[in-house]
Amino acid sequence: PTDSTDPTDTVDLPGLPRERGCPFDPAPGYAHLRESAPITRIAFPSGGSGWLVTRYEDVRALLADPRFSSRLSAAAPHVRTAVAALPEPLPGALLRLDEPEHARYRRPVMRAFTVKRVQQLRPRIQQIVDERLDAMERAGGPVDLVAELALPVTSLVICELLGVSYDDRETFHGLAGRLLAIESSPEEGQQARAELASFIAALVAAKREKPDDDLLSTLIAEADADPDSPLTDIALTVLGSLLLIAGHETTANMIALGTLTLLEHPDQLAALREDPALADRTVEELLRHLTIIQFGLVRMATEDLTLGGRSIRAGEYVVASLPSANRDPGLGIEDPDRLDITRTPAAHVAFGYGPHQCLGQQLARAELQITLTSLFSRFPGLRLAAPAESLPFRDDMLIYGLHQLPVTW
Ligand code: HEM
Repeated sequence: PTDSTDPTDTVDLPGLPRERGCPFDPAPGYAHLRESAPITRIAFPSGGSGWLVTRYEDVRALLADPRFSSRLSAAAPHVRTAVAALPEPLPGALLRLDEPEHARYRRPVMRAFTVKRVQQLRPRIQQIVDERLDAMERAGGPVDLVAELALPVTSLVICELLGVSYDDRETFHGLAGRLLAIESSPEEGQQARAELASFIAALVAAKREKPDDDLLSTLIAEADADPDSPLTDIALTVLGSLLLIAGHETTANMIALGTLTLLEHPDQLAALREDPALADRTVEELLRHLTIIQFGLVRMATEDLTLGGRSIRAGEYVVASLPSANRDPGLGIEDPDRLDITRTPAAHVAFGYGPHQCLGQQLARAELQITLTSLFSRFPGLRLAAPAESLPFRDDMLIYGLHQLPVTW
C-alpha cells in the first residue's frame, strides 16, 4: 500500500532505499521507484511517514514550489529522529527559512560567492593546493588523502574567506562530524550546534572589536552602517556557523570521492590527463554522478496540493531525492548511469534547485577543478594504498564520501 491515505499507518511501508550496490551509485531501489512509483509513501525511522520523490522533473518542481517549506530541513526525519526536538529556526538559518525572510539573509552573503568573486580567489586556492601537495610529496606515500589534502584545502579556503583561524580546525572538524552523523541524537545535535554558535559568536565579537578584510568583518561593517540590516549578531553567528560547516565538509568529500572515482575509472582519468581543459566537465559530471547529499532534501507541504498527480496534505513531509533525480533519464542525457567526463554538462541538481540552491557552488567548483587537476598532474602514478573493498565509505553521514582514502604514488 504505497499510497496509504492514513499517514500514521506505516506498518507495511518500506523505508528510504539506503543499501548501495556499488559505492559510486545510489541504492538500486531508486531506479525501480522512478519507473513504478515516482512519488511514493515511505516510513521514517522514528515512526510516521512521508513522501519520496525520485524523478528529476518532480524534484525540480518540488524544490521550486513556495508551497513547500524548508523549516524542517535540519531534522532529516527520513534518516534520523529529530523532528520533535527541532527548535524554531534562528535568524540567518538560511537552510530553514522560507521566503521572503530567507532572501533577506541570503542576499548580503551571496555577494561574496558570485562567479566573479570566486574567480578572484582562484590564484590563492591554487597556492593553498600547491602547498598541500608539496607537503604530501615531502612526507612520501602512503598518505590519507582526506586528512592531508581534501580537508585542509577546503578548511583553509573557507577559514581565510570567513576570517576563522585554521588553528581551530580540530574544534570545527569535530563539530561537523557530530552534526552530520545520522546516528546523532537530537540532544547531541543541539549540543553541537550550541558549541559551534558560541565559537562563532566569540569570533563575531572579536571582529567587531578588530575588523580585518574577511567576510565576517565585511558583513559586520555593512550591518553596522545600515539600521535596516537584518544582520544582527545572532544572524551573523548563525550564518557564520553555516558557512564554516557547509563550506568545508561537502567539498572535502567531493575531492576524496572524486579522486577515488577517477582512479577506479582509468579511461576517464586518461581522458582528463590528455585534455586538462576537460576539468570543468569532469567536475560537473562527478557532482552529478556522485550526488553526495545522499539522502536528499526534506520539505513540508504548507497546504493541501498535488505534485506529479499525487495528493499531498498540509503538514506532510516530502523527500526530494537528489541522487535519484541525477540518474533519471528525464535529466535529458544519454545513459545517465554512466560516468562520462566528456559529455556536455547536465543541468543536474547536486547543488539543489530553487531559492535554496547552494550558495557556495562556484567556490566548490573552483576548489574541485584546481585540486583534482593539480593532484593528478603532480602525482601521475597516484594509486590506492589499500584494497578498494576495504575503504570506509560514509554511509553513516548525511554527506556521503570517504572517512579516509589511503593513497600512494
Ligand atoms: C545549500 C550542496 C558546497 C554553502 C546547499 C544545498 C545543496 C548543497 C544540495 C541546498 C540545500 C536545500 O535546498 O535545502 C553542496 C555540495 C557542495 C557544496 C554538493 C560541494 C560539492 C558548499 C560550499 C559552501 C556552501 C563550499 C560555502 C562556501 C551553502 C549554503 C547553503 C547551501 C550557505 C544554504 C543556501 C540557502 O539555503 O539559501 N548546498 N554544497 N556549500 N550550501 Fe552548499
